[in-house]
Amino acid sequence: MKRKKAIIFGVTGQDGYYLTKLLLKKKYTVHGVKRRSSSVPTNRITSFLKQKNFIIHYGDLTDTAAIYNLISKVKPDEIYNLAAQSHVGVSFYTPIFTANVNAIGVLSILEAIRSINKKIKFYQAGTSEMFGKTNEKIQSEKTKFNPQSPYGAAKVFAHQITQNYRDAYKIFASNGILFNHESPFRGDNFVTKKIVSSLVKIKKGTQKKLVLGNLYARRDWGHAADYVEAIHKILQQKKPDDFVIATGKDFTVKEFVNKTAKIIDLKIKWKGKGLNEVAIDKSNKVIISVDKIYFRPLEVDYLRGDAKKAKKYLKWKIKNSIDDLIKQMVKHELN
Ligand code: NAP
Ligand code: GDD
Repeated sequence: MKRKKAIIFGVTGQDGYYLTKLLLKKKYTVHGVKRRSSSVPTNRITSFLKQKNFIIHYGDLTDTAAIYNLISKVKPDEIYNLAAQSHVGVSFYTPIFTANVNAIGVLSILEAIRSINKKIKFYQAGTSEMFGKTNEKIQSEKTKFNPQSPYGAAKVFAHQITQNYRDAYKIFASNGILFNHESPFRGDNFVTKKIVSSLVKIKKGTQKKLVLGNLYARRDWGHAADYVEAIHKILQQKKPDDFVIATGKDFTVKEFVNKTAKIIDLKIKWKGKGLNEVAIDKSNKVIISVDKIYFRPLEVDYLRGDAKKAKKYLKWKIKNSIDDLIKQMVKHELN
């Protein structure tokens, strides 16, 4: 059987690593797109670089001509757009860059598909941040969007333009609406990675303190390895559609800290309130504190997803619990 060809924009990121691994296992030829950078951007994907079915190209979502030329040259069956300025907090500092990449970049891919070959299937990496400030305790494909950041607003544009191109030009274009997903390969400045990496170092005695922002935000945290399986299934359906991918369980940032501390057997006790809240160790030393520098101008207080549709139509299953996730992240940090 002929190998399928996929382009992955955002191949150097967390999900790029897991999706490449999955597609290579499924006998795809994978064309990954990396940006030029002054440091090595391919750290996560070095294990794939020598494989003959993995080909890396330079590109950038802000370069419409480069996107067009790449899609014309590769002639893929499927395109997965995972590329984004993906940090919500940073999007308040770089809102125009964030919109250019996360919104207009998506439109550039769709325009290229429209003019090169409407049969290319397209996946857009949507997010629970699009729900933003919501009154619904659990969010599904039917929940209204109310984004609270330049990141979330740009992703709403990307989601809706993907639907427009699907309806107007009959392109197989689908959106995932993925809730937070983490892994040992998570970027260092996301809260789970920061917590696990810092607490492991505090336990080893190589770091003194962990400083966090809002301890009371609630998130629905899953494992990236499970979520890329859903991403792939979304493009294998008979018809293009949009799917929420989530665990349905939510925890506060503080609960995530407590779970991690328990797993690495670090005894902590919380005291104080608000910006003065701290966690102390058994010798009364403050090892966790709060600083407003990590608060955002607007916060999304809670996210918890309803993935019933994905479970029914994609037959998607969660393999890793939050405790499995933390244990894997801890093991990776210890190594
Ligand atoms: P990530 O680790 O931050 O990876 C983002 C990727 O996008 C990296 O490969 C990055 O390249 C690339 N990128 C950034 N700007 C680009 C540009 N201008 N042109 C081309 N590529 C660019 O993010 P992730 O966690 O894997 O998430 C993957 C996608 O899913 C993102 O679109 C994110 O917004 C979305 N999402 C993530 C989650 C989550 O919880 N992880 C949840 C919902 C949706 P560099 O390596 O060079 O920076
Ligand atoms: N990053 C970070 N750093 N967040 C902190 C910190 C800190 O020191 N302290 C508290 N938080 C809180 C944030 O305010 C937020 O409420 C929560 O922890 C999670 O923050 P992040 O890990 O940065 O993730 P996010 O939820 O903002 O965004 C992630 O998930 C989205 C899906 O809901 C990213 O992966 C996005 O790309 C993704 O779309």
